[in-house]
Amino acid sequence: MFMMTRVGETRSMNDQTRRTAINLADYEDLAKQVLPRDLWEHMSGGAADEITLRENVAAFRRIKVVPRVLHDVTHRDLSTQILGQPVSVPVLIAPVSCPARYHSDGELAAARAAAKAGTIFIASTGTCFSVEEIAKTSAAMALTGCSRISEIGRSLISGNK
Ligand SMILES: Cc1cc2nc3c(=O)[nH]c(=O)nc-3n(C[C@H](O)[C@H](O)[C@H](O)COP(=O)(O)O)c2cc1C
Repeated sequence: MFMMTRVGETRSMNDQTRRTAINLADYEDLAKQVLPRDLWEHMSGGAADEITLRENVAAFRRIKVVPRVLHDVTHRDLSTQILGQPVSVPVLIAPVSCPARYHSDGELAAARAAAKAGTIFIASTGTCFSVEEIAKTSAAMALTGCSRISEIGRSLISGNK
C-alpha cells in the first residue's frame, strides 16, 4: 500500500507491517506512522470541540458482541437492504472528502472495495472524482451533504465541481 503525501512523496506500508494490524486501532497507528502530520490530524480529528467524535467512540464501546456458542453457523447471511439496495453486510463506506489526499486512487479505490464487498459506497460532495468516474467502478453509490440535491448533484455529475 502506498500513501501519497501532498508533495507527491510516497511512503510504503509493507505487507509484514499490515499483517500485524488486527483491529481499527492498529490501522490508525499505522496510518499515523505513514501520513504527514497535517493529513493525520485532518483524518483523526473531529469537528470543533470533537464532542461528536467522543460520543461516537463511546457509542461503539457500549455495543457488546455476545458470543453464541453451539449454534449452527454453516449458512451465515448478513445481507439486508439499505436505501432499497441489497447489501451483503450492514456496513457501508462513509463519505470522506477528497480521500485522494491520502491515496492517489482516492474514492475510486474505496468504491471498488465497496463493490467487491457487495455494499454501498457513499460519495462526499467534496469528491476528487466525478460521480460518473466513481460509477464506473460499478459500486452502488449514495451521495451525502447535498441540501439542494438537484443543483449540486447535477454539477458533480457533469464534473463541474
Ligand atoms: C477525514 C474525514 C473526512 C470526512 N468527510 C466527510 C464528508 O465530506 N461528508 C460527510 O458527510 N462526512 C464526512 N466525514 C464523516 C464520516 O463520513 C463519518 O460519518 C464519521 O467519520 C463517523 O464515522 P466513523 O466513526 O466511522 O469515523 C468525514 C470524516 C473524516 C474522518
